[in-house]
Amino acid sequence: MKKIKVALAGVGNCASSLVQTLHHYGNLTDVGEGAGLAHPMLGNYAVSDIEIVAAFDVNKQKVGQDLSKAIFAKPNNAPKFTEMPITKIMVQRGPTLDGIPTELNELVEESDAKPADVAKQLEESGAQILVGLLPSGANDATLFYAEEALKAGCGYINTSPVFLACNREWAQRFTDRKVPLVGDDLMSQIGATALHRALLDFLVKRGVRIIESYQLDVGGGTESLESLHRARDQKRSMKTNIVSTEIPYEVPVTAGSTDYVYFLGNRRESYFYLQGRYVGDADFKIDLRLVSQDAPNSTSILLDVIRGVQIGIDRGFAGPIDAVCSYGFKAPPRPYPLSLSETIFEHFIRSTRPV
Ligand SMILES: NC(=O)c1ccc[n+]([C@@H]2O[C@H](COP(=O)([O-])OP(=O)(O)OC[C@H]3O[C@@H](n4cnc5c(N)ncnc54)[C@H](O)[C@@H]3O)[C@@H](O)[C@H]2O)c1
Repeated sequence: MKKIKVALAGVGNCASSLVQTLHHYGNLTDVGEGAGLAHPMLGNYAVSDIEIVAAFDVNKQKVGQDLSKAIFAKPNNAPKFTEMPITKIMVQRGPTLDGIPTELNELVEESDAKPADVAKQLEESGAQILVGLLPSGANDATLFYAEEALKAGCGYINTSPVFLACNREWAQRFTDRKVPLVGDDLMSQIGATALHRALLDFLVKRGVRIIESYQLDVGGGTESLESLHRARDQKRSMKTNIVSTEIPYEVPVTAGSTDYVYFLGNRRESYFYLQGRYVGDADFKIDLRLVSQDAPNSTSILLDVIRGVQIGIDRGFAGPIDAVCSYGFKAPPRPYPLSLSETIFEHFIRSTRPV
């Protein structure tokens, strides 16, 4: 199988976990069950078919470093689970724009290098897909990299809670350029949103009447600090909307990141409350706590999304690919309940139909 050439905009915690996973499973064409991945193989693509060919960041500790070192530079705190060999991919300086909010001033020193011509570097690297792994509140930076992807003719994956795939104009521009665009706001493998949706799906399918429910979480990564300030309302509305798709009637639901606790490191603690009634007006309450590592929680879905986009490219898809968006993201252009979005995605992967 040919390699899927990918560039990264943002070498933060999600990038760290992704790069480590690609190395960890790198020599295996069949990773096999039990590896923690939803799809060791997706279509004809193994994890080892994904190759990082370029990376951009703005942090002085990361720019000019080999990717194998940059992924462990502060303030990244994603768990280290493999020894990385030199990758020969130097992290290049992207323009900062709104990438470093004042809340991160004490944690991030901006690189004094001159920003690279991102579109040119994408072209020279041979990247087919640019993965935007930018901070939650970095709207301008996200739009900048999407623009560079368009110039270079790359597909764009928007993991941030910025409306891009959901924005008609952007969707049309990618369609016209004949390259895919997927987003918005990646959904973790067993993150709070996915688990909350699965619990509600279970209860609704068992005939229970849901009365009210919330999901709140705390974390210690820079992402949690960002979500607390600039992206709080946006994240909350995206999460609440997608969680509500699981309940076929109106119910008070709140879902959102709430706070930053620095000593949690990359750990995230999510609290769930669900109340409902079943036969005879009998009522029940569920209180749950999920403790997870944030960055690795993004990796399995991201690997699926990257390979899903490549399958889309192979078949001539352009603009938003609904099957990939609704499977991998919290704010897709067309939201479906979780189990239906998984079925649609599997169908898309199995189908051999070109556009
Ligand atoms: N489980 C998860 O971690 C998860 C789940 C869903 C969505 N996401 C989304 O993924 C994105 C990345 O998350 P993360 O935890 O890796 O964030 P992070 O804060 O660890 O990393 C962001 C990186 O982007 C860099 N950056 C900032 N401005 C830049 C610019 N202009 N150009 C290039 N790089 C720039 C930062 O220096 C940092 O290295 C976020 O938008 C988050 O909402 C993450």
